[in-house]
Amino acid sequence: MNTSIARYNTVARALHWTIAVLLIGNIVGGLLHEPLEDVVQIMPVHKAIGMTVLALSLARLAWRIVSRTPPLPAHMPKWEVGAAHATHTLLYVLMIGLPLSGWIFSSAGKYPLNWFGLFDIPKFAITKENPLVGIAHEGHEVMAFIAIALIVLHIGAALRHHFVLKDTVLRRML
Ligand code: HEM
Ligand code: HEM
Repeated sequence: MNTSIARYNTVARALHWTIAVLLIGNIVGGLLHEPLEDVVQIMPVHKAIGMTVLALSLARLAWRIVSRTPPLPAHMPKWEVGAAHATHTLLYVLMIGLPLSGWIFSSAGKYPLNWFGLFDIPKFAITKENPLVGIAHEGHEVMAFIAIALIVLHIGAALRHHFVLKDTVLRRML
């Protein structure tokens, strides 16, 4: 089924789907951490997953710069190509900005930062008095809601290409 079309390469596909699962999981975890705080401590895992997303997203961006991407179907109108590029660029910004903002404001908190209890993650030398902490905290929340909207749009576009337009766009990422 996928053999005859040019797809994103294996590394790009693996990173796309791994980051998609972790990022969506972290949005859900972030939103549930307060309602579930008496039941389960979500935050240590949320922070570790978020730092993983940051590392994978930086690797993915580097890989995106050095590797080729498959061509889009020739029939796509210019506005749609532009909209896709704009959405993807913003998604990259959020994939990096969301965890980075979390890392910054959590650095001012009292809890240690570690990666699934395996090793410590260094904290930025920043205290709660620094205005950047409040900006990063606010930004974390705002970016999360922008991410939700963009992901809905992105998934909707992928499904429209596959089921309505019946072109190769989704299969290029499978
Ligand atoms: C994929 C990356 C991430 C996503 C999608 C994400 C998403 C979210 C969301 C949706 C919330 C709930 C928003 C709210 O109600 O305030 C949240 C809260 C939080 N996040 Fe993240 N986050 C990510 C990475 C990180 C990282 C790397 C850290 C720290 C190292 C972090 C620390 C926190 C903390 C401490 C809160 C609780 C804030 C509060 O209760 O005021 N997050 N995150
Ligand atoms: C958190 C969730 C997701 C994020 C952050 C995300 C992010 C991205 C980004 C940044 C690209 C551009 C790839 C590049 O050129 O480097 C992309 C492409 C793509 N994504 Fe996602 N994605 C997510 C979830 C999904 C889901 C659930 C689907 C399918 C229903 C999907 C389908 C696609 C497809 C088909 C492409 C190729 C589009 C093209 O080349 O024009 N994505 N995604």
